Amino acid sequence: MKKNGTSVCFADSGMEERMKRIGMLTSGGDCQALNAAMRGVVKTLSNSKEKVEIYGFIDGYKGLIYGDFRMLTGKDFSGILTKGGTILGTSRTPFKTIRVPDANGLDKVEAMKKNYNKLKLDCLVILGGNGTHKTANLLREEGLNVVTLPKTIDNDLWGTDMTFGFQSAVDIATDAIDCIHTTAASHGRVFIVEVMGHKVGWLTLNAGIAGGADIILIPEIPYDINKVIEKIEERDKQGCRFTIIAVAEGAISKADAKLSKKEYKEKMKNYPYPSVSYEVAAQIQEKTGREVRVTVPGHMQRGGSPCPYDRVFASRLGSEAGKLILDNQYGFMVGYINREIVRVPLEEVAGKLKMVSPDASIVQEAKLLGISFGD
Ligand code: F6P
Repeated sequence: MKKNGTSVCFADSGMEERMKRIGMLTSGGDCQALNAAMRGVVKTLSNSKEKVEIYGFIDGYKGLIYGDFRMLTGKDFSGILTKGGTILGTSRTPFKTIRVPDANGLDKVEAMKKNYNKLKLDCLVILGGNGTHKTANLLREEGLNVVTLPKTIDNDLWGTDMTFGFQSAVDIATDAIDCIHTTAASHGRVFIVEVMGHKVGWLTLNAGIAGGADIILIPEIPYDINKVIEKIEERDKQGCRFTIIAVAEGAISKADAKLSKKEYKEKMKNYPYPSVSYEVAAQIQEKTGREVRVTVPGHMQRGGSPCPYDRVFASRLGSEAGKLILDNQYGFMVGYINREIVRVPLEEVAGKLKMVSPDASIVQEAKLLGISFGD
């Protein structure tokens, strides 16, 4: 096992409290406010009467599997509230293959348990999104103490109304649409801004409304390209020189939504476009002769400093995670429901996706504002 750095006691020296040994890791795609959340956990623990040792696993579950960790000191958590990314590094360790031995025949789950026990950890604090939560729940089932925090710009985690990273990404995607607005107005073109979000439309929906998009295409509401064109032509008739379309990276046409998984896979084998936005652009161009441009802000949406909302939100969630540990309450994700910070049992979270309901009031209100969903 690699062991760098020195141990730190966050409590007053001389106190005869039991030492708590906490492992921490960030897994999956990064996002803003991961550092703020970890700082929240550690500050809460260090301000308590308990002594704590924090072990940071490098690059997510990989660090736990291969025993790559660093003992963290107070210094590590100083000045990181505003820092994007994650001080621990992250990687994707797909849940699908978690039970498949690695190239050297190592049983990953057993290796994680072994390293947890070797370090005599009291608990693991795991920050992640959907896949991360499936593995976290598996580790709970395997008998490890786990507390999790919901991170992702996609906001698709079940059991919480909001994930941290989401609001920061909404800000960035909105900025992108704002910038496109001025150039679209000058040129009188149709502009598509492709927004991240994986299989859900939360980010596109929110950034689309905030940026004043005329059309919003999200996976939960399959689109008909003719309806999209109808909206563009309606705007033309009203004398609007341009149209802005916010397209979720997972948006899907009504025709494609009807395909079986196998048929869809087959179609994608010979798919000539880099992403759905380019397909929409090509169809509009072909059917209307209009000039269409596509902008993809991509990973910019996960980058940079967390917005103030996320700093506060992640700090609050982190603090509650710290409280859970102090209460010896494990097997929970700290979530946010109806404006309250809540403890959600991990088994209720793992494996479920929180999607936008086409009947949600935000969708209905957007429609009342004149936004088309191409449906
Ligand atoms: O889950 C966050 C996210 O940014 C999604 O919105 C996107 O589909 C995916 O990650 C991109 O993953 P990667 O960083 O592995 O390319």
